[in-house]
Amino acid sequence: MPVIDDDIEFNVALPDPLKVHECKVFGPFASGALESLDEEPRFNEVPAEVDNLVGRQVELFEVIHSVLNHRLVNIMGLPGIGKTALAKNAVNYMKDRRLFKLGIIFFSLKGYKSTNVFMKKVVTNLVREKFELEPQERKDIEENDFEKLLSMVTGYFKTIDERLLVVFDNAEELLYYDNLNFREFLTHLLHAGPNASFLMTSRVTIGVL
Ligand SMILES: Nc1ncnc2c1ncn2[C@@H]1O[C@H](COP(=O)(O)OP(=O)(O)OP(=O)(O)O)[C@@H](O)[C@H]1O
Ligand SMILES: [Mg+2]
Repeated sequence: MPVIDDDIEFNVALPDPLKVHECKVFGPFASGALESLDEEPRFNEVPAEVDNLVGRQVELFEVIHSVLNHRLVNIMGLPGIGKTALAKNAVNYMKDRRLFKLGIIFFSLKGYKSTNVFMKKVVTNLVREKFELEPQERKDIEENDFEKLLSMVTGYFKTIDERLLVVFDNAEELLYYDNLNFREFLTHLLHAGPNASFLMTSRVTIGVL
């Protein structure tokens, strides 16, 4: 008799017409075709991670798990406590593993007090290629036309057909100075693009959207 090491477990998947065996070896597999990893995600620029991050493993797991399971996650905490550092490390983890096929976009909202000004930046940088705006048209986008800017941004998000993560880092100023507009902007984004998820860091809560 050959000696079988106790630690080795043999699992063989046999046809099981009586359905009495639970197969522990295979599945569940995600459905879908095999994908090549050669293609780079379209949005791929995130700030470098903090490589000496101390004592945040549990929070890091929590943030990643939350982002993968919810569409809007806010890391909230006191000034300087490490919200941005946590966000940077979480997004680098997800970027390295290509968990968002279209990629990750990282916006720092520091210094923005007006949602319109921020939306104009989004339109002129991100949405540009989609709407193929001429330089003059770009200039003509009125910064005070909230509805127009919002419809351009949401129009873009409606076209997104792969998973995308958008980070809004340091959102407290917009939440403080332009609360209603910024919250409306977030609400519209959430409705417009079911494939987009959002990670935010802020010293204050977002409140109910
Ligand atoms: N766990 C950590 N280990 C090592 N360094 C850290 C850690 N958390 C934060 N830091 C460092 O502390 C500094 C402040 O952190 P960070 O900018 O992430 O705070 P914050 O909560 O985003 O602050 P703010 O409210 O101003 O946005 C940064 O230099 C960051 O790299
Ligand atoms: Mg910060």
